[in-house]
Amino acid sequence: MPLIAILPGDGIGPEVTAEARRVLDALGLGLGFEEAVVGGAAYHTDGHPLPPATLDLAKRADAILFGAVGDPACDSLERALRPEQAILGLRKELSLFANLRPAKLFPGLEDASALRPEVAGAIDLLIVRELNGDVYFGEKGMRTTPAGLRQGYDLMSYDEAEVRRIAVSGFEAARRRRGKLCSVDKANVLETSQLWRDVVIEVSADYADVELSHMYVDNAAMQLVRNPGQFDVIVTGNLFGDILSDQASMCVGSIGLLPSASLDADAKGLYEPIHGSAPDIAGQAKANPCAAILSAAMMLRYSLDMGDAADRIEAAVAKAIGGGARTADLGGSLSTRAMGDAVLEHLA
Ligand code: NAD
Ligand code: IPM
Ligand code: MN
Repeated sequence: MPLIAILPGDGIGPEVTAEARRVLDALGLGLGFEEAVVGGAAYHTDGHPLPPATLDLAKRADAILFGAVGDPACDSLERALRPEQAILGLRKELSLFANLRPAKLFPGLEDASALRPEVAGAIDLLIVRELNGDVYFGEKGMRTTPAGLRQGYDLMSYDEAEVRRIAVSGFEAARRRRGKLCSVDKANVLETSQLWRDVVIEVSADYADVELSHMYVDNAAMQLVRNPGQFDVIVTGNLFGDILSDQASMCVGSIGLLPSASLDADAKGLYEPIHGSAPDIAGQAKANPCAAILSAAMMLRYSLDMGDAADRIEAAVAKAIGGGARTADLGGSLSTRAMGDAVLEHLA
């Protein structure tokens, strides 16, 4: 029986993960579940955001369903003890380097998008974000300049092996989709990005069937709202991918809609919404559970070879939304549970 680690985390994490769990249970797939604390919740009970037992469960499990971490009460802790270190630690410890963040407009949500309906309607893209390197994991610290000023620093770097493996993920994804890959960097300014671009071009030699283009990240941010329909697969670094994926979410209606898969080289994965713990609405039953539910679908598809069940979940979400089910972020008034119910109703 496949073992799923459930790590609900903080804020709305437990609220949306519960709905994903209900959908998985309803499908009767014969999955085993084991739950553990993570993030601020784990700091409060165990004194650490990623306790050894949680990391051990994540390593033992066949796949991980993750909610969100982040707790304002922990924001002044030393960095190593902050909730966010749990997700960063899991990504690094498990070598989950390829983060797939799909964004597609669900029919019926044209009015929820921040873009005009005809612009939003064309969106069907996948951001492939590198997750183990970049400025996230370089040397960082606080120091004092010779002039006596406090200075914070974070080293941005990629080595060619790191770029090569994520480039391969991007090309493979493009090959399975519409055959277009746009590599997003800042090669006009950053050496990190120059190497990125050089290596992506080297890898492209093995993918003559994929149409490769390059775009600076500032232009990419603009193009994402001007004409997002031009994108099929975007491959980019950790920081740029973080920012562009939140932006893409509003192009399709809400950050509460975007799921993600974080995969290692063997397709072991952690699955989580791209959103955070949303402290501003936590505990109010307002959170949209669709991103979490769609993350569970990605888990079935990528780690458990249950593509049919994944299709059923995705179709149920589309039908629920098409039928008018809306949480507050989409302009409606359904609670998190009622939105989960609407999806359950449409599970064929
Ligand atoms: P956030 O994604 O938590 O929230 C941003 C805004 O979107 C808020 O107004 C929130 O209410 C709204 N929102 C988010 N998810 C929603 C949902 N499912 N339904 C309806 N509305 C939703 O980002 P933030 O406010 O910048 O960060 C809050 C905390 O979450 C921070 O501690 C941050 O570090 C953390 N965070 C964690 C993850 C993660 O666990 N992977 C991701 C992003 C942010
Ligand atoms: C995300 C989040 C994380 C990131 C934070 C919480 C570390 O924003 O998953 O998008 O920056 O990767
Ligand atoms: Mn983010």
